[in-house]
Amino acid sequence: MCGIVGYIGCREAVPILIDGLKRLEYRGYDSAGIATIRDNELKIKKKAGKISQLEQLFSSDFNDDTIGIGHTRWATHGEPNSVNAHPHLDGSGKISIIHNGIIENYYTLKKELIEKGHVFRSETDTEVLAHLIQEFYNANGNDFEKAVRFALTQVEGTYGLGVLCSDHPDVLIGARRGSPLVVGYGEGENFLASDVCAVVNHTKKVTYLEDNEIAILERDNVTIKTTEDQLVEKHVEKIAFDIEKIEKGGHAHFMLKEIMEQPQTIFDTMRGRLLLEEGTAKLGGIQHDLESLLYARRVLLTACGTSWHAALIGEYMLEEYVRVPVEVEYASEFRYRDPILDRDTVVIAISQSGETADTLAAIREGKQKRAKVLGICNVVGSSIARETDAGVYLHAGPEIGVASTKAFTSQVMVLSLMTLLLGRMTSMSSSKGREIAQEMASLPQKVEKILSHAEEIKKIAVQYAHSQNFLYLGRGYNFPVALEGALKLKEISYIHAEGYPAAEMKHGPIALIDNNMPVVFIATKDSTYDKILSNIEEVKARQGRVIAIATEGDTEISKQVDHVIYVPQSYEMLMPILTIIPLQLLAYYIAVERGCDVDQPRNLAKSVTVE
Ligand code: G6P
Repeated sequence: MCGIVGYIGCREAVPILIDGLKRLEYRGYDSAGIATIRDNELKIKKKAGKISQLEQLFSSDFNDDTIGIGHTRWATHGEPNSVNAHPHLDGSGKISIIHNGIIENYYTLKKELIEKGHVFRSETDTEVLAHLIQEFYNANGNDFEKAVRFALTQVEGTYGLGVLCSDHPDVLIGARRGSPLVVGYGEGENFLASDVCAVVNHTKKVTYLEDNEIAILERDNVTIKTTEDQLVEKHVEKIAFDIEKIEKGGHAHFMLKEIMEQPQTIFDTMRGRLLLEEGTAKLGGIQHDLESLLYARRVLLTACGTSWHAALIGEYMLEEYVRVPVEVEYASEFRYRDPILDRDTVVIAISQSGETADTLAAIREGKQKRAKVLGICNVVGSSIARETDAGVYLHAGPEIGVASTKAFTSQVMVLSLMTLLLGRMTSMSSSKGREIAQEMASLPQKVEKILSHAEEIKKIAVQYAHSQNFLYLGRGYNFPVALEGALKLKEISYIHAEGYPAAEMKHGPIALIDNNMPVVFIATKDSTYDKILSNIEEVKARQGRVIAIATEGDTEISKQVDHVIYVPQSYEMLMPILTIIPLQLLAYYIAVERGCDVDQPRNLAKSVTVE
């Protein structure tokens, strides 16, 4: 949700900023811009559209500029055009700002500034901040740092920002409240970015800003303070991050790469955590907090989007094997609902990015009400990872494709490890524990096997690529998979798709079924198999076209349906890790066939850091 990058050093700033923006493009891609300083003057280029379009605006003219800021936007205030694109300028043309977040009191501030004679060019909330900094700059003897700090005290809302002032070509200022910001330390150069992805090919030494901190970057120095002017000693972390992990590695899209990586990422999530002999698991991050989980009277899982679907599967698992009452809440609802929480409730927030604003707010609400708050995150060092009492990392590696795939299977994996661990500490027998653990260990090969049938799935996808609607049905553990399958299709192909519990079909969706309606059934051999077969009959009786995800060896089902995609058998609670794979591929190939921008679907952003 908007990506920001800043550079100060001795090298050409523009190529570094463009490269950084390309790596942050998953955060927003409706418009982009760059500002640099030369001869005490700001140079700005902005453009609606992708970074590649912005890149074309730069000529050798920018070669000497060694300080700059860049932004890729996901519009909140004002339509995505080049006027509303960042960086924004103040009235004097001396201050330039890039911003991720929302200035909630921008309207009041703007009115006051207009009364003082400021003239605005854009419809954005961000421009207000540029003008506000200018006010304080003029009032404080051109003290740039003070001006930024004072302006931020007036702001309500969230920001991750970068600011330049043409009178100070040797200083770049960054600040954070609510939106992530990382400082990268180089030799004679320093970096600022929303995410380590943007700086990782220049430096591995970083520090994450906390809320209400500002970073003053010079070529040879970085100073971090609070907005109240207190110096802060920061721990500089060394990140273990491979540049290859954020390249496409020969695949047409990041999404396909990430789907194909799943045998490895599922393995990585389990690595060192699965104890086959004992039939249990070890989760270092929460091991010291097991008591609170074991004696919790209630577990509340909260998340958004795909992570919310993983949470639903977690609910089924934990209730079945740990016998603890579990609720799943959309983080956006949870935060405004005054939920009943107490010391006996454990809140578990699930998030790939660890930066989703609603999930972060839900965590804060949980802590406020004295609940124990745990996190399941992918991005190491993310806000959610840092703000929770304890947690478990997915270790799935960076996920760049906007539609989440490998993070989902790793989230379900972590939830199943947690279930195994807690189950074994309560009522699960060691033989059952060993059985489940063995099954978990065999998942990477099973996923590999499903992926080897990608070409067959592609053929089915091509046949249905021009459908207007899709229905996804499943029961039990596979009901959340139906929701996730439908979400994948919606997100990247723009086909309307709904996921439903199969039995609920009779209470509404059945009215939609005709011979133009593809219905995807997740119909694996589990405790609800016979019921699902009856639901398939009901669809066929109404001329619906059925694509079934079925268990290997189930030849009978192929007589009932139009297409079958087989997956290997596994433990019922682990089946979602297998059944989601063909649905990810189906959505991917349909989107490609329709000519959609798979990695950057319209209107979406990977990391939703605004409400
Ligand atoms: C956005 C992304 C989804 C993701 C959701 C939650 O909507 O496009 O792919 O599932 O945010 O994100 P999180 O990072 O918290 O899992």
